[in-house]
Amino acid sequence: MKVVIIGSGNVAAVLGGKIRLAGHTLVQVVARRAEPAALLAQEWGCGYSTRWDETDRNADLYLVALSDRALEELGNVLTLPGRLVVHTAGAVAASVLKPVSARSGVLYPLQSLKAAIRPYPEIPLLIDANQPEDLPVIEAFARTFSPQVERAGDDTRLKLHLSATLVNNFTNYLYILADRFCQQEGMDFSLLLPLIHETAGRLGRYPPEEMQTGPATRGDGATIEKHLKLLSNYKNIKELYELFTIKIEDDYQRTEISAP
Ligand SMILES: NC(=O)c1ccc[n+]([C@@H]2O[C@H](COP(=O)([O-])OP(=O)(O)OC[C@H]3O[C@@H](n4cnc5c(N)ncnc54)[C@H](OP(=O)(O)O)[C@@H]3O)[C@@H](O)[C@H]2O)c1
Repeated sequence: MKVVIIGSGNVAAVLGGKIRLAGHTLVQVVARRAEPAALLAQEWGCGYSTRWDETDRNADLYLVALSDRALEELGNVLTLPGRLVVHTAGAVAASVLKPVSARSGVLYPLQSLKAAIRPYPEIPLLIDANQPEDLPVIEAFARTFSPQVERAGDDTRLKLHLSATLVNNFTNYLYILADRFCQQEGMDFSLLLPLIHETAGRLGRYPPEEMQTGPATRGDGATIEKHLKLLSNYKNIKELYELFTIKIEDDYQRTEISAP
């Protein structure tokens, strides 16, 4: 397929790269800033533009990887009648690009994407279309660069986006806090990597609920007190530690009470 990439951020860079590796032809990058657009265009051997009115009109598919807010405004500056146009947002309705083209939909990558990451990760794709006849076209295209492609309407996509925020964004923030704590206390964060990998690696083999360990799960108040004392100078971590502890204690007590 001939594909135009709209946007020059993380999703544009990664999906564009994967689409190209799958054998499609990237014909143009359209973005508001010349520098990142030119870099991607150079990597992909295609043209670029910072003007909406110069958007190539002959592509088979337009991948719009813009910020959620920009998606809502795109129809004011760009219309592509009859062209298939998909956005990449988890929390934005499929209908948002109808002012750009009636043949519009969604190709949402359920993955954390950063332009610089190599190799490209495996990316489940959640797809949708405003016109039912476009769904098989988007699906066939998506399957050329992902083994996991599923149809997901606005509600399901938003709920999966929320779940992704829990398992990825919140977890990674805890890594950031632990990393800072280790640095501050003169310890090596990399000692925790086998633990992190082991816990993540168990997912899919065991239910996460059965894998929870730690003082809050055991009701080990003495250790919790020692930890909290260590955190007197770390307000953020202390607040989260207390909140997680309460939630885990509540959860595991409830499980014990409801168990036969
Ligand atoms: N990154 C992820 O992990 C991820 C995963 C799944 C889905 N998504 C979704 O994919 C979309 C793109 O995300 P991203 O991570 O690629 O974001 P990003 O790296 O911040 O890139 C956003 C792109 O949108 C452009 N943009 C922002 N406001 C604009 C405006 N008013 N007019 C024109 N262009 C504008 C930016 O241009 P400038 O560079 O000039 O600011 C940039 O090219 C979002 O809807 C996001 O929710 C992201």
